[in-house]
Amino acid sequence: MGTLRLRVGSSPLRTEHERLVRTALRRGDEAPEIPDGVVYEGDASPRAIEIAREAWRARALHEHQSSCVFSRLLPQLIEAEASIEYKTVILRSAMDEIRHASLCLDVVRYLGGTPEIEGDLATVPLPEHVGRTPRERALRNVIFASCLSETISTSLLAEEREVTTEPRIHRVVEQLSADEILHAKLGWSLLGDWLPMLDAEEREGLARYLPLALGSIEQKMLAAMPLPPPISEALRSELAALGAIDGKDGREILYAVLEDVIVPRFEELGLPGKKAWADKRAA
Ligand SMILES: [Fe+2]
Ligand SMILES: [Fe+2]
Repeated sequence: MGTLRLRVGSSPLRTEHERLVRTALRRGDEAPEIPDGVVYEGDASPRAIEIAREAWRARALHEHQSSCVFSRLLPQLIEAEASIEYKTVILRSAMDEIRHASLCLDVVRYLGGTPEIEGDLATVPLPEHVGRTPRERALRNVIFASCLSETISTSLLAEEREVTTEPRIHRVVEQLSADEILHAKLGWSLLGDWLPMLDAEEREGLARYLPLALGSIEQKMLAAMPLPPPISEALRSELAALGAIDGKDGREILYAVLEDVIVPRFEELGLPGKKAWADKRAA
């Protein structure tokens, strides 16, 4: 157990951190960070604000964990002889996720909450896929983390961009959304690049992995989007305006993106997406 805080410290590296956020990680003209002391003054109900705050807090923890997934993919990409752009973009993605967590806590503070989370800060190593080649191992983990997880995030964020009307929070959602598009692109690019180079056994190994990947991501996402107790339409739209779409909408988007985007994409690449979806099983 521990406390996750993402305030910038006062060490000599502060300037470098701020420069990275302004330059390397930048999207668009205006940085979405919410300055200290700027607080929400809209007219959402206290109940909506409280629920939205908790949603953003939970999201911060999830974003922060994603940074470990990307940084742990670097050694696997090195072992699999990936070209350099995959290595730099994977590290950028890890940095993006730390920043996303910090932006989520900015929103918590903006909504009047304490920008920290008490929780289990232990991180989980990536699956080793023992016995598979370095190339197949890296591809399996990139499929899970990027092609599945990030493509789903991209669709959820596209919906949030539509419904989040609170301007400061909207700007945060825009940054998250733009970054997650790159994180998903990374996986699909690598898969498209490497598939033609795989031998029959590696290809077969990937095809065998897909039902497990699809079943596991489904379970993981359902757990992350619990169905809320019935709430009024008014509260629902207040929450949406604050960037918290409810689990029911999230689950609809999850199945739409899995069935209409991800499975067909595997098929286009010559992988048995439809069969894998029909045979899905969780770990
Ligand atoms: Fe993220
Ligand atoms: Fe991401």
